[in-house]
Amino acid sequence: MSILGLSSRPSFRFRFHPGQTVAANDDGAFVFRSITGEFVSTYRTDVEWQRRFVELLQRGASLAAIRKAVFPLLGVQKTAAVLVQVDYFFHTGIAVMQLTSDDDGALLTFVPHGAPCTPKFAPLEDDERLVFSRFSTLRRDDDRIVVDTPLQPYHLVSETPATDALLMRLMRGAPAAQALAACPAPARTALRDALALLKHDGILLTLPANRACLTRHDEGEASAQWDVHDLQMHSRSRSGYTQLGYGEFGGVFPNIGRYEPRPAVRPAWSGERIALAKPDMEELYKSEFPALAGVQDYRRSVREYNEEQPLPLEQLGHLLYRACRVTFRDETEFESPLADVDGKAKVEFAWRPYPTGGASYELEVYLSADRCAGLDSGFYHYDAERHCLVRIAGRTPEVEELLHGAYVATGYQAKPQVVLHIAARFQRVAWKYRAIAYSVILKNAGVLYQTLYLVATAMGIAPCGLGSGNIELFRRITGLDPMVEGSVGDFGLGSLPAGYHDRLRR
Ligand SMILES: Cc1cc2nc3c(=O)[nH]c(=O)nc-3n(C[C@H](O)[C@H](O)[C@H](O)COP(=O)(O)O)c2cc1C
Repeated sequence: MSILGLSSRPSFRFRFHPGQTVAANDDGAFVFRSITGEFVSTYRTDVEWQRRFVELLQRGASLAAIRKAVFPLLGVQKTAAVLVQVDYFFHTGIAVMQLTSDDDGALLTFVPHGAPCTPKFAPLEDDERLVFSRFSTLRRDDDRIVVDTPLQPYHLVSETPATDALLMRLMRGAPAAQALAACPAPARTALRDALALLKHDGILLTLPANRACLTRHDEGEASAQWDVHDLQMHSRSRSGYTQLGYGEFGGVFPNIGRYEPRPAVRPAWSGERIALAKPDMEELYKSEFPALAGVQDYRRSVREYNEEQPLPLEQLGHLLYRACRVTFRDETEFESPLADVDGKAKVEFAWRPYPTGGASYELEVYLSADRCAGLDSGFYHYDAERHCLVRIAGRTPEVEELLHGAYVATGYQAKPQVVLHIAARFQRVAWKYRAIAYSVILKNAGVLYQTLYLVATAMGIAPCGLGSGNIELFRRITGLDPMVEGSVGDFGLGSLPAGYHDRLRR
């Protein structure tokens, strides 16, 4: 893995990442500083070749220019070692790679994500019709157009209007020479190299002569089965292909001092409150603790109910208490590791019986009750701190639709007597995490699913995870801003048919 093969291409230049500043300290050492911290480098202002090297990387220089600048001072072997340093800077994200035109202007920047990658070039014919893979997305970052791809550990930043136009043309598909002809002549050679590189990396694909477009099935068996948003989230929320540096990833608390952290417990809804029964936990510790293996083995998704005996409210109360209540509260003070985030923030926590990434406990449980003995049919919020239900709506057409959606989700096998809608207060997690917030929320929802499955099984309630809920109906019923709080999972419940576990054992 190396960029050293680019030595003969003067239009490929390397320069420090725009988020990286370099300054000299009083001792004469160069200090590299970025949003995630600073380190005093071994490069010194009083060593001629080091000063030249750092200056070139600040301005941007090709490998040939760097070699030319340091060779007279260092000789063959040490010059080779300097170029290996550029390689290291690129692979670790300290430097970016820029394509420049003959008249020196930057055209396109390759921003590496901190994983080794070797630029290679596929052969390219002038009349070859190129089109972006469907996994490429254009977005705006400040005043630049960015091309994201989950296929490689880098993203592209367009530096000129001509490059913007080229990228747009390739979104639709165009012969290479024709797409390039619209760019100013000094830029064409460099941009042709860029197209060959993107073709090699699978970001640009070739349109066969007889085809107007490519479908997902032209991309191979594995690619065809990925949806664009799924692959993007996968590659952005795991390290490897996502941008690690510059505060773009993980629990970096980017919002301290900008926004208040969301409270650990959402403000209570103001509707009618329905008290819920609590189980005798001491009794349960004694009677149920040794039975986990049995609970695991008897756990099934159950899509049939005892219609004579709808789920009793008392059982619903016990289930919610055991799976979702707030067990205790505390608070911790945090400071961001990012240089552009000032100050500290106190964050409250409201712990629940299940584990959660960052102890955010952003999940809220709402429910649509169809048939629940002791509870009017309608839509409720489970107030996990007060252990009660708060009525939000009666059996409105929207609630009816949510219940019907749950029936559809079971493949029309069962009409859950109660459907839990697991909602997330998104900023509770996004306040802390970059890149992984939504994937953490979905993981947490999975944890809550399994907790509900196990507790329901232990209690003799019929549980069934549901994969497809409706966020628009949820918005209409609750009136909540879907950017702030929205449903991320659903879970069907009902009373277990008599003898169900005996049947399973057989
Ligand atoms: C995240 C998740 C989503 C699910 N979605 C549905 C669904 O929409 N409809 C359904 O009938 N079952 C759904 N299930 C239940 C699975 O089909 C079930 O867990 C799987 O078939 C294994 O069977 P078992 O749970 O009985 O062991 C879901 C389960 C999980 C964990």
